[in-house]
Amino acid sequence: MQTKPHLQSIVILISGGGSNMAAIVRAAQKEAWDTHYGAQVVAVISNKPDAGGLRLAREHGISTAVLEHGAYGCRDDFDQALAAAVARYDQPNRPALVVLAGFMRILTPGFVAQHAGRLLNIHPSLLPAFTGLHTHQRAIDAGCKYAGATVHQVSAELDAGAILEQSVVPVMPGDTGQTLAARVLATEHTIYPRAIRNWLAAQARA
Ligand code: GRF
Repeated sequence: MQTKPHLQSIVILISGGGSNMAAIVRAAQKEAWDTHYGAQVVAVISNKPDAGGLRLAREHGISTAVLEHGAYGCRDDFDQALAAAVARYDQPNRPALVVLAGFMRILTPGFVAQHAGRLLNIHPSLLPAFTGLHTHQRAIDAGCKYAGATVHQVSAELDAGAILEQSVVPVMPGDTGQTLAARVLATEHTIYPRAIRNWLAAQARA
């Protein structure tokens, strides 16, 4: 896909299957975000070369890049390389929106500060409950009747930035971490595109 110079760039970071990324790309194409919100998904970057989402992105005509975190000496070096890779898509006076979609790396405070206000994440729990990993099993173990997902701004503290969207699903008798994760994931594909649309609309109004 050709990058159009006047549009807000959206760069999506992934580590795995990329179903959220694909949902965002599909929404951007179906809803003509370029025309309606002046925005375009321009690149998908993975820290894992075998991330299934890379193939999905290419199938949608999106540029892809791989930055293997293991190839960098420390977290700061990796994040600086990542910031440089993202910055390639900045427009004059319009830095890219960075969307973390199953990106399994904790970003340094420096990266977060540099992208403050334009760095979004989706977390598979009803934040502020269950930050970190294994959220679905922890929700089951805690006896929760409901679980869900949260789209939030990324701040220096893990899974703690301003909440933009949430989805809620019931926890069913007999649920395993996997069955609950699948139910939650299906809702992520709705709330993440919606949160991004709202972010873009707010930018346009600002
Ligand atoms: C999602 O559940 C997301 O909330 C979590 O990792 C999963 C990624 O799934 N952070 P996918 O790669 O978007 O399919």
